Order: sequence, then structure tokens, then C-alpha cells
Amino acid sequence: MREMECDMAVRVCAESELETGQPVRVIVDGKAVALVKDDNGACHAIGDTCSHAEISLSEGFVEGTQIECWAHGAHFDLATGRALTLPATDPIPVYDLNIIDGDIYVGVTNHATNHPADQPQPANLS
Ligand code: FES
Repeated sequence: MREMECDMAVRVCAESELETGQPVRVIVDGKAVALVKDDNGACHAIGDTCSHAEISLSEGFVEGTQIECWAHGAHFDLATGRALTLPATDPIPVYDLNIIDGDIYVGVTNHATNHPADQPQPANLS
């Protein structure tokens, strides 16, 4: 019997279908999720909607371990969801992602919430 490591996880695709730097938008339990393989080969599941406005982050640009919103250029950390640059100031959700036997599973019932103290200070914004 196979056991999954997270509750309520849904298989979204094979890991081989996710290309580095080419985000994919999926819907999991009614939530839009962007699957992203960063430049280090790590896979992430983040909320697909930019925290600045209603723009799909899966249409953005992957740079290292960040994603840039195409609309106004806000950068987000893929691992934490932190907004790294203006105009976004609020984080985006980061969801549980597990790779089991070559398949990617995402759970959206629990996600990291980022503490306001983790947000960039004005001096750090570019
Ligand atoms: S909508 Fe994403 S930075 Fe403005």
C-alpha cells in the first residue's frame, strides 16, 4: 500500500512535464496554483495570483529562485512567497508540494503564511 506524505494532496502532473523556468497554471480544489521549477531544479507550488493585482504569475518570468510578475515587475521568493520588490508588498501563498514516484502532488489546504516581519523593509526595496 502506498502512503502519501501530505493530506488532501492532488496529483497535478508528472515532474517531467514541468520545465525549468516555464511555470504551469493548474487548479487544485478550486484554487489557481502556479507550478514552477526554479533554476536550481527545485519545484514549487505558489498561489497563481499576484498580490498586487489580479495577474497570473504563471505568465511571469522565473529568475533563479524568484518569479517576476509580468505586469509591474514585482518579484516573489518561490520558497517563501515573500514579496521582494514593489509594487507588491503582501506575500503569495506557498503550497505543499511532494514528488512521489515521478509525479507532483499539491495540497492547498495548508500553506505557509508569511509573517509581516518577513516583508522587505523600505531600504531593501529596489
Ligand atoms: S500585478 Fe503583479 S506587480 Fe502589479
